[in-house]
Amino acid sequence: MIKKETIEKVLDAARIEEVVGDFVDLKKRGTSLIGNCPFHNEKTPSFHVSVAKGIYKCFGCGAGGDALKFVMELEKYSYPEAIRYLADKYSIPVEEVERSPAQLAAQDKRESLYVLSTWAGKYFKEQLWDTESGQSIALSYFKERGYREDIIQKFDLGYSPDQWTALVDMAVEKGFHKDYLKEIGLAIERDDASLYDRFRGRVIFPIHNLTGRVIGFGGRTLKTEKTIPKYVNSPESDIYHKSDVLYGLHFAKKAIKDNDMCYLVEGYADVLSMHQAGVENVVSSSGTSLTSGQIRLISRFTNNVVILYDGDAAGIKASLRGTDMLLEEGLNVKVLLFPDGNDPDSYVQTYGSTAFKEYIAKHQEDFIFYKTNILLKDTGGDPIRRAEVIREVVESIALIPDEIKVSVFIQQCSHLLDIEERVLLTELNKIRVQKAKAQDKKIQQASRTLNDTPPEDMPPADLFLTDIERVQDVSSGEETPQTITSDTLQEREIVRILLNYGEELAVWEGDGDVPIVPLLLNALDDIAFEDRASAFIVDTFRRKAEYFEIPDTKYFFSHEDKEVQDLAITCVATPYELSPNWNDEKRKIYVRQEREHLRELTMQAIYRIKKRKVEKEMIKIREELKVTSTDDMEILLAKYQKLKEAEKVLGNFLGNIVVK
Ligand code: UTP
Ligand code: MN
Repeated sequence: MIKKETIEKVLDAARIEEVVGDFVDLKKRGTSLIGNCPFHNEKTPSFHVSVAKGIYKCFGCGAGGDALKFVMELEKYSYPEAIRYLADKYSIPVEEVERSPAQLAAQDKRESLYVLSTWAGKYFKEQLWDTESGQSIALSYFKERGYREDIIQKFDLGYSPDQWTALVDMAVEKGFHKDYLKEIGLAIERDDASLYDRFRGRVIFPIHNLTGRVIGFGGRTLKTEKTIPKYVNSPESDIYHKSDVLYGLHFAKKAIKDNDMCYLVEGYADVLSMHQAGVENVVSSSGTSLTSGQIRLISRFTNNVVILYDGDAAGIKASLRGTDMLLEEGLNVKVLLFPDGNDPDSYVQTYGSTAFKEYIAKHQEDFIFYKTNILLKDTGGDPIRRAEVIREVVESIALIPDEIKVSVFIQQCSHLLDIEERVLLTELNKIRVQKAKAQDKKIQQASRTLNDTPPEDMPPADLFLTDIERVQDVSSGEETPQTITSDTLQEREIVRILLNYGEELAVWEGDGDVPIVPLLLNALDDIAFEDRASAFIVDTFRRKAEYFEIPDTKYFFSHEDKEVQDLAITCVATPYELSPNWNDEKRKIYVRQEREHLRELTMQAIYRIKKRKVEKEMIKIREELKVTSTDDMEILLAKYQKLKEAEKVLGNFLGNIVVK
């Protein structure tokens, strides 16, 4: 276990913009930084980072939290993993509390898999550099292929000796669990339950996740027999989700951001050779077609992708496949083919870095034009084939979400295909109508399922909007927010005021200033909060208030109770501050307005809750009246009368609050 002091140091040091900035390209807007949300696919950024508050919030998918939560959610780290990651980032030594053997045994499984995987990476690397067979067989192989030592080092390349159990034996000797060796696929189990090395006799390409941890391996054979698979790869495991990994991304992410462009290649070898040539914004899909998870990964860093393929028939086919998804995600896709069956690796190795860079600079072509030309070549003047080509090209164009780009492509393809724009547009509309119909069907099906099970815990869009904000929202031309009148909402409004304005004063004409916290707490002394998270936060304020203190909002941000954490973050990252639909001027005006009217804001919140409580009491009495004896009737009626008066007073008060 990590010592409490270390955790505090790490949380203190972690700066949200730096932690998030390692994964998301952030741009400044107003007081926030914004970027494309890494937690869902999006084309326009709705992911906000507030430096002052130390939190992030996505108004698209609702993800939100502090720096620690960010790495936990994104990298699927456990709490200790995330602390260790941040400690490493900020060079803070991690101090451990001594652990009992039992605690050790119960250690987080994923953490163990990471440890094993990292160890194996080191083991392979040592086998390559420090053993005779490694040097004579594997290192010499890499060098013959033209890789420099610094590149071999940088990518942590390794060697798995040509023995059945070299790694298994060493791992077991080191105390690693056999189940874990099997789980991450370093070993394969025989029928008699004994284990043998998966990668024996192969050179090793470790696969790193975004943070640089080794999560899997690709092993290339050194033999040339066609019967032997060229590559053997780690299987899916708890730490290696293939559809969410791109080979080389960890080494490429900075260059991708800097160049605002990403080269996509097929193989490990291509990534290495391009780095060696000084082109570092390159990732590999490792021979499989792209997944949406991988595309999301790329779009975190850039919207521009150039696909590099072999110039042979298979390469050309491959370049036409798999691009649809990229287009749909709004990425700008270019294609680049290499001549005479070369791939990027062989081109670099044959012609050198300078020639390679010149070649890739000159031969990029917009995917749509590329596709048009390729398909046209095959038609041989056959009119039916031509009609097919037109349809196929327009189908690709129809995937592009950006209207301006669509019209540019239509225009230019009309030249290429020597066909009137009008014809292409008709085709485009036909495809769109078909797609819209299919989409409608999907939505209908989805809403049917939704109606079956009402999404109770789905937060409404205007969760914490007060009336002032609703007015503002309408005037800003946004969709009318849903109205919700739940008790929870009122309770959460109290929490929002406490967290945002707890330290402020409500200006009281005549009586002077009253601090917000005691004002609220005293007024709501008789109210039991029903919403669990709200109750907890209000209660924390109460306990602190006994010592004339106010809790630090940060305490709630990283609270172990997820509900408390989410509530605090949503409250502090309120829409009026961060909503992408609010321009800076509007936001400033609103914040100023709310600040200037803290008294009204607070009183309104108090009276609303009280009114609701009175109404509930009244309902209860009405129910009781139905079944009560005449004796009690009078008492109940008197009570009811009192409540009715109270309700009227509260109602009048609420009605009289002038919201400026
Ligand atoms: P390539 O055959 O192009 O491999 O397959 P390469 O990386 O260029 O390797 P060299 O140059 O022949 O050494 C592209 C990618 O497809 C995956 C690997 O990820 C490879 O890098 N692949 C290929 C496999 O997983 N298994 C295979 O048997 C072959
Ligand atoms: Mn190759």
